[in-house]
Amino acid sequence: MNTFSSRVFRRLVFLAAGLMAISGRGAEPAAAAPQAELVAPGVWRIRFGQPEQFTPTYFRSAAMDVAGLQALAPNAPLPLDLAKVTFQATARGCSLLLPMDNQERLYGFGLNTKIFDASNPGRRMVIEPTDAPENDLGQSHAPVPFYVSTRGYGVFVDTARFASFYTGNLAPAQDVVETDAGKISTSTAELYRAREPRMKTMVVEVPAAKGVEVYVFAGPAMLDAVQRYNLFAGGGALPPLWGLGVHYRGYAPYGAADSLGLAAKFRADHIPCDVWGVEPGWQTRTYPCTFVWDTNKFPDPDAFLKQMREMGYRMNFWEHAFTHSSSPIHDALKPWSGNYRVWGGLVPDFATPEARKIFLKQNGAVLFSRGVEGVKLDECDYQPESATPWSFPVVSSFPSGLDGEQMHSLFGLLYQQTMLTPYRDQGVRTWSLVRNSHALASPLPFVVYSDSYDHRCYVRGLCNAGFSGLLWTPEVRDANSVEDFYRRVETVIFSPNAVINAWFLKNPPWYQVNTDKNKRDEFMPERDAVTAGIRDLLQLRMSFIPYLYTAFNEYRTTGKPPIRALVLDWPGDAKVRPIDDQFMFGDSVMVAPMFTGQKKRAVYLPAGDWYDFWTHAKLVGGRTIEATNGVQQIPLFVKGGTLLPLAAPVEYIKDDTGFNLTVYLVGDQPADFTLYEDDGVSSAYASGKQNTVRLHADGEKHSAERTGGYQGAERFKITGWQPF
Ligand code: GAL
Repeated sequence: MNTFSSRVFRRLVFLAAGLMAISGRGAEPAAAAPQAELVAPGVWRIRFGQPEQFTPTYFRSAAMDVAGLQALAPNAPLPLDLAKVTFQATARGCSLLLPMDNQERLYGFGLNTKIFDASNPGRRMVIEPTDAPENDLGQSHAPVPFYVSTRGYGVFVDTARFASFYTGNLAPAQDVVETDAGKISTSTAELYRAREPRMKTMVVEVPAAKGVEVYVFAGPAMLDAVQRYNLFAGGGALPPLWGLGVHYRGYAPYGAADSLGLAAKFRADHIPCDVWGVEPGWQTRTYPCTFVWDTNKFPDPDAFLKQMREMGYRMNFWEHAFTHSSSPIHDALKPWSGNYRVWGGLVPDFATPEARKIFLKQNGAVLFSRGVEGVKLDECDYQPESATPWSFPVVSSFPSGLDGEQMHSLFGLLYQQTMLTPYRDQGVRTWSLVRNSHALASPLPFVVYSDSYDHRCYVRGLCNAGFSGLLWTPEVRDANSVEDFYRRVETVIFSPNAVINAWFLKNPPWYQVNTDKNKRDEFMPERDAVTAGIRDLLQLRMSFIPYLYTAFNEYRTTGKPPIRALVLDWPGDAKVRPIDDQFMFGDSVMVAPMFTGQKKRAVYLPAGDWYDFWTHAKLVGGRTIEATNGVQQIPLFVKGGTLLPLAAPVEYIKDDTGFNLTVYLVGDQPADFTLYEDDGVSSAYASGKQNTVRLHADGEKHSAERTGGYQGAERFKITGWQPF
């Protein structure tokens, strides 16, 4: 499945003559010289030793997008000097040494919220899932054994082991290390300087495996390598249009009546909201789960869903996979589960078709047959660093043959794939949530979320997610102050899933940001003003939907992440390399979130003209400016020379909602902008039912040219053109 079958590219193009297997004491005999095989344009596979069967490519969720890879740049050269690559297998596992230079910077390794440039300083990045991502070990909700380099290449180590990547801090004995011969050092700084490796090497340590396959992605720029990785995974996920609207997750104890009441209040208050999330309360038991409706709280699930839909809501339901003994599927699932329980529940082995089928039968009966539009897959990560960890141990075994370590890496991916099946089968899209993911996740329409709640770390997560084919939401719950609440909402509306996760708040947080008071129905004196301010911010999100949808279509077709750290767009500008608190949102808008207590912040504007989104003032780039935006206004900057289509906000998106767009002409001679349009809900786009609307402005003359095979209701109508 992971071999590109075209005759042209199937040939072996690189014989790695210089690739040596170094055998140490106790090591296995050196394997035959490995080869780099071109598997698609700009993508090579190198096989070392005897790789394991159960890896992310073995369980890939989509076929590689060969046409997309071909379209990128068909003749990119292999960006790695194979003569400098070495491999070793020992009883403990295997290791790989890959060349680095002292200047290059490395990014990626998944959804880190603490680390950004992973090579400065050289360190160990552990690819192990955790529910506590605010650590500096590399662990996160979505650890990914993939990195990209400022030298313009990417490396993916295809393993489900808890691999460690040493990003230039180890000194292999084969390297000659020069000493400060003849010099007598006395200061601590001088003495310790000798500890720094003179020649950087990437060392990858893969436990347990006796070999591994490595995929190398060509540049020439970092962004090219990221795009190739995403296309290799199958291309980016395309959300349904409603998925980009506002998501609200209601109070967990609420039943049907309370949920309906609050949902109706949102409509009366004109709070934009597309998706209503039902938290644990809907099941008879949830830790572990039964996947059975609690009819005390939801006496008539069909009637509840019908009434929510009549108000225009799409429905999303919380669950986790651990299955309670009173669940109707418990006994059938038992032979297809791991040999440890979590919270007393079975751990389904989603690597087996049997477990998937049994699990889907029950979820189908209660959720999917009722047309539920999305799910929230909780608790599929783990807690490795705790003295009292929850979840199954790494020594677990599963009927598929996976062990606990492999299952921890793959659990989120396999759970997502399982729950995606009914949507794919029905040809409809979802935009769901998950708390654990891993490699090759780009095609999966799931956004990763977390219980951790550091706003600064959440923003770093947004910058990092785009390096590794991940989507991340800096979800909003309660807040320390009204200011904190505004600042968090300002960030989440510029993310892939604008979710207010009020699962422990009885009332919307814009009534009361403090959890205890909120539960006691004690509302803030400024409640009405905050409601209006939050409504404005959510409307801002709604106005960006057509623009963001277009960015997602580019993710799907070219692998370009819709949200990107600046280093991906300005690879030649060394100043952007450490910036982890500003990001691109689509191609024209740069976001620079502010944090509680900040009266001002530094914003780096890369070279070129920029325009302040709020004042429309022109700003010359290539310098750092100071943003002093007040608490209800996030600093936003629009690239000069662009067309920015913004929609009149709607409160929610029906299947036939048409957006009225004003196209803003930003700067002189704006380049064309091509909007993407389709039915917004189904997978019919895959068979050509999609349009492009090419926006063009030349002085006073404007045009919007629609072409393509989508004949349905116009989703994006251009109703005006305006100078910015
Ligand atoms: C947590 C999850 C929260 C919420 C809660 C409900 O594990 O991260 O978002 O869903 O469970 O019990």
